[in-house]
Amino acid sequence: MQPTIDIHCHIMPGVDDGSPDMKTSLEMLRIADKNDITHLILTPHHKPMHHNVSPEHNVLYRKELQQNARAEGIRAKLFSGNEIYYSDETVDELMRGEVCSLAGSDYVLIEFHPTNPYKAIQNAMYRVLTAGFIPIVAHVERYSDIVTKPVHVEDLIEMGCLIQVNASSIMGKYGFGISSFTRKLLKKELVHFIASDAHDTGNRAPQLLECRKYVEKKYGDEYAKELFFTNPANVLRNESI
Ligand SMILES: [Fe+2]
Repeated sequence: MQPTIDIHCHIMPGVDDGSPDMKTSLEMLRIADKNDITHLILTPHHKPMHHNVSPEHNVLYRKELQQNARAEGIRAKLFSGNEIYYSDETVDELMRGEVCSLAGSDYVLIEFHPTNPYKAIQNAMYRVLTAGFIPIVAHVERYSDIVTKPVHVEDLIEMGCLIQVNASSIMGKYGFGISSFTRKLLKKELVHFIASDAHDTGNRAPQLLECRKYVEKKYGDEYAKELFFTNPANVLRNESI
């Protein structure tokens, strides 16, 4: 089994609606370990009008978690990032370094409100690209305007965006409609990353193994390796995809 890299999870303790404390974070990392996840980018939410963890604290808390994990014999290597809820401030915040890109690379993980019109998503991505960043659309299967018109995914890729879907969506946790949308994208190889978006140790745990096996069987080993390892590794190395 190839190692897996998770680029989207809420495992950093006490900073958002993910893990509430160190104990839960370590338990989540143990689950990740059992799923052959060797590297994780911690992506706490960064939302307008919220108390967001600063980039300095992001690094500090990540190092603290890394130390505790190592002491517990957990082998995963952790990196800092954010899941950025797009607002008019986003580009300025990125330019001023007030929000984290993924592992210090040019790649940024961007989310939107589920009912945002496609035009707004497209404009936002254009602004992020123009500022010199490479946007990764977080859980593309959540945006109603895109789910009802999948051709928009191709448009976003053409613009220069990359596409992330959640493993749980592929595996049917959010119903047949969402799962069949994600599987159609996979069939056309319109997905660049499959991530856990883990928030807890239960229903939203960092589980990727079952999905990886499914993708290998259904779409081939080579594409699975790209989704779970090669593309995420290129983000960590800030190399092109
Ligand atoms: Fe998330």
